[in-house]
Amino acid sequence: LGSLALVAIGGYLLGSIPFGVVITRAAGAGDVRNIGSGNIGATNVLRTGRKDLALATLLLDAGKGAAALLIARWLFGSELAGAIAGGAAFIGHLFPVWLKFKGGKGVATFFGLLIAAHWPLGLMAGATWLIVAFALRYSSLAALIASLLAPVYAVLPIAALGLPVGQPILILSVVTAALIWVRHHENIARLLKGAEPRIGAKKA
Ligand code: G3P
Repeated sequence: LGSLALVAIGGYLLGSIPFGVVITRAAGAGDVRNIGSGNIGATNVLRTGRKDLALATLLLDAGKGAAALLIARWLFGSELAGAIAGGAAFIGHLFPVWLKFKGGKGVATFFGLLIAAHWPLGLMAGATWLIVAFALRYSSLAALIASLLAPVYAVLPIAALGLPVGQPILILSVVTAALIWVRHHENIARLLKGAEPRIGAKKA
């Protein structure tokens, strides 16, 4: 139990690194928290007008979730340890100690976790995000739909393909999807009012 607590702390600290803030500052693009939605994620970094910085934020925020899960799974040889570290990294992104616990919405980290945990599941969820994002041009709506469907994919189509998703990962997908919905409450309100900015628009 002591070592699982260490896994959780390590995952949390890794997930707490706010790459969106670090990258925009390092590039002299200002503090991403002062623009657009004020969020620290790749979608809002894109509102600085710097696609390269947004892509780097996406990859690093996804990568930290994937790394936490993969390292713990490798160290302990257990899916449970991987899920705990990955879940802790996700919590770290949402509530980072470095930003007085005011973090992001978890979408990139969620995809990193899914791809590392079970790549066919990650692929299906990622494809869902892309389809919705290209069709409707709302990043938040794409995340809401993809996160809602990920646990459904985990229990139905993926299992039907003979690629069963283990219980720790299923639980991880449900808990992280629920937190993504909670964190998007302002986006949901804007979507319902028709006031959510589309991808590529400058204001939020
Ligand atoms: O990844 C977060 C995205 O779904 C919404 O971001 O900045 O539009 O609130 P934002």
